[in-house]
Amino acid sequence: MDARAHYDLAILGGDGVGPEVTAQALKAVDAAEARFGFTTSRVDYDLGGRRYLATGEVLPDSVMAELDDVDAILLGAVGTPEVPPGVLERGLLLKLRFAFDQYVNLRPVKLLPGVPTPVAGLTPDRCDMVIVRENTEGMYAGAGGSLYRGTDAEVATQESVNTRRGVDRVVRDAFDRARSRNRHLTLVHKTNVLNHAGDLWMRTFTEIGEADYPDVARDYVHVDAMCLYLVQSPDRFDVVVTDNLFGDIITDLGAAVQGGLGLAASGNLNPTGAHPSMFEPVHGSAPDIAGKGWANPVAAVLSASLCLAQLGQPDAATALEDAAATVLVEMDAMAGPDMGATTDQLGDRIAELVAG
Ligand code: NAD
Ligand code: IPM
Ligand code: MN
Repeated sequence: MDARAHYDLAILGGDGVGPEVTAQALKAVDAAEARFGFTTSRVDYDLGGRRYLATGEVLPDSVMAELDDVDAILLGAVGTPEVPPGVLERGLLLKLRFAFDQYVNLRPVKLLPGVPTPVAGLTPDRCDMVIVRENTEGMYAGAGGSLYRGTDAEVATQESVNTRRGVDRVVRDAFDRARSRNRHLTLVHKTNVLNHAGDLWMRTFTEIGEADYPDVARDYVHVDAMCLYLVQSPDRFDVVVTDNLFGDIITDLGAAVQGGLGLAASGNLNPTGAHPSMFEPVHGSAPDIAGKGWANPVAAVLSASLCLAQLGQPDAATALEDAAATVLVEMDAMAGPDMGATTDQLGDRIAELVAG
């Protein structure tokens, strides 16, 4: 770890609760800088629903070029009811994931001590896995089209794009993670129905495992069964690798198991470093609670922790994670709606704990 290191961060608060929770993550990063000696500079980008409605711009090329030069991007959330679905999600979030080739979407599912989980009797020692979601292909690629739109003969196709190269690189990343954890990797897919894509995923997984990771135990679970096991017996899983859409769906379920979307963090990683990685909560803009001060900032703080770990500040990353864990235990004792305190109060307390 280099205490004198400096990092350029781009901050994309986005819509709804996005800016509210991102502000708390930044307080925690401030405290980590003071304690661990590294520094950051930050440029705030006004992107999302407000800018789109005012100017029609989603993600100008000039902004893309600037973002490509930073060390990491912290994003809050995008999407708002005033803008048709997909405009911001595809035009901003997915554009960044694809253009910066952030092919690993890392989503830990970890039940922290003291957090109420809806799964009766589940204890933290039985829920600690990382889900590696493929992040640049699959159903998200946008392949397909429509004919006779608006007529009763309308046809719509949405195809899943899977390349050997794309599957290979994310599967290898997941095997590497399994090797540094408990040496167990699970492939989640739907090979019993998706004969083309499932076959490519299964062969790639098996061939790479046999050839290069004989020390990592492999198993396979269909995605429907995964939804059952993730709730019933999450202790079956160490590292999980899956395609883009399955990964999207099972990580919301994982978030529920670990105590809610307000606690679930993610990193969109470009493991080669050719472009910046981007860190964001798994949750969206939560229009139902935006502006109320009820958004839990822990997911954003844990995402910033993933960011610091990737930038090479492991002690700072651990300090953010520990502070978030402590606040979750303390929450019960704090006053306020729903989660026990306001977004801001929690952010202040987390920063105080990070400061040490
Ligand atoms: P959502 O994640 O915004 O909200 C789902 C539920 O979780 C809501 O009840 C919300 O109040 C709750 N929730 C979310 N974050 C929370 C937090 N920090 N603390 C407490 N509760 C929280 O999903 P949605 O309602 O399906 O989508 C809303 C918008 O966000 C849509 O436009 C969608 O496309 C977008 N979205 C963006 C991202 C992203 O930017 N990464 C992710 C998911 C959804
Ligand atoms: C997520 C979100 C995004 C996704 C949307 C907003 C494009 O749900 O990050 O999980 O589907 O990947
Ligand atoms: Mn999602």
